[in-house]
Amino acid sequence: MSGMSAVAEQPAVVRTVEGVRAAVAAWRRAGETVALIPTMGYLHDGHLALVDRGRALCRRTMASLFVNPIQFGPTEDLERYPRDEAGDRAKLRAAGCDLLYAPAADEMYPPGFATAVAVTGVTEGLCGAARPRMFGGVATVVTKLLLQTLPDVAVFGEKDYQQLLVIRRFVRDLDIPVRIEAAATVRDADGLALSSRNSYLTAGERARAPALFQTLGWAAGRLLDGAGVGPVLAEAGARILAAGFSRLDYLEFRDAETLAPLDRACRPGRLLVAAWLGRARLIDNISVIPGTSVVAEGA
Ligand code: PAJ
Repeated sequence: MSGMSAVAEQPAVVRTVEGVRAAVAAWRRAGETVALIPTMGYLHDGHLALVDRGRALCRRTMASLFVNPIQFGPTEDLERYPRDEAGDRAKLRAAGCDLLYAPAADEMYPPGFATAVAVTGVTEGLCGAARPRMFGGVATVVTKLLLQTLPDVAVFGEKDYQQLLVIRRFVRDLDIPVRIEAAATVRDADGLALSSRNSYLTAGERARAPALFQTLGWAAGRLLDGAGVGPVLAEAGARILAAGFSRLDYLEFRDAETLAPLDRACRPGRLLVAAWLGRARLIDNISVIPGTSVVAEGA
């Protein structure tokens, strides 16, 4: 945290493991609790809702900004992933975040780095099938972020539902002493889940994008009415394609806790989708809980 200009900009930015540990240690000495919000930047109100949750739970909140190269496949969007650190910092300032941890790639993965965190079970299928490198890369970097900062709480979004369950799994399995908190998906007024990747959409595609969540809502209602999973998913997939999406990576109904396939809405479930609209691969999900209404999303 040294080298700051006379008019100290907030939040302070640290770029090293040593720097972030020193900042957290100072808070600890003052008896303060700490929340971590891991992100890949290009922040939107979904990310800032995680900061709000962190601030509600802990005295200090820090965000990390790291576009993690090892969770992208060779043909994916690592190079064109949107970046705006100055804008992110301004949003974090307005949200009352205390620190931004933004390490360079060689700070996270110095020469000789040779370790990976691999999670089985909950990583299989869905995004794990469509993006085979992703969850290994996520598990490795989130393990490192948690061990580098050792917060009391780390907050993740239900927008990336399978990712959330993967993180809960390895945190439990590796006895990492951090509480994992989940926050509901933040959406635009028309229902589209906020995502940094929405910036890939043209105006015409953006106008069609809400069909994804609208269709999830329709399908969730049908399942709660007792309709069969197969026909509902077939009709929902056809609606998404008819709305202008070019391809579905998956559209599935799964157990909300284990992600095991469900053949009817008999216990808490989750409908999960990934579909391509222009250059953007959009993901979304909705809870399907017998005895509740569909609008109880994120419950
Ligand atoms: P990123 O896509 O930047 O998302 C960071 C966090 O914000 C994740 O926990 C994600 O679920 C949450 N988030 C994104 N959109 C949201 C929305 N509309 N509403 C609520 N929360 C939302 O996910 C990652 O980065 C990375 O995989 C990461 C965990 C940082 C590891 O590299």
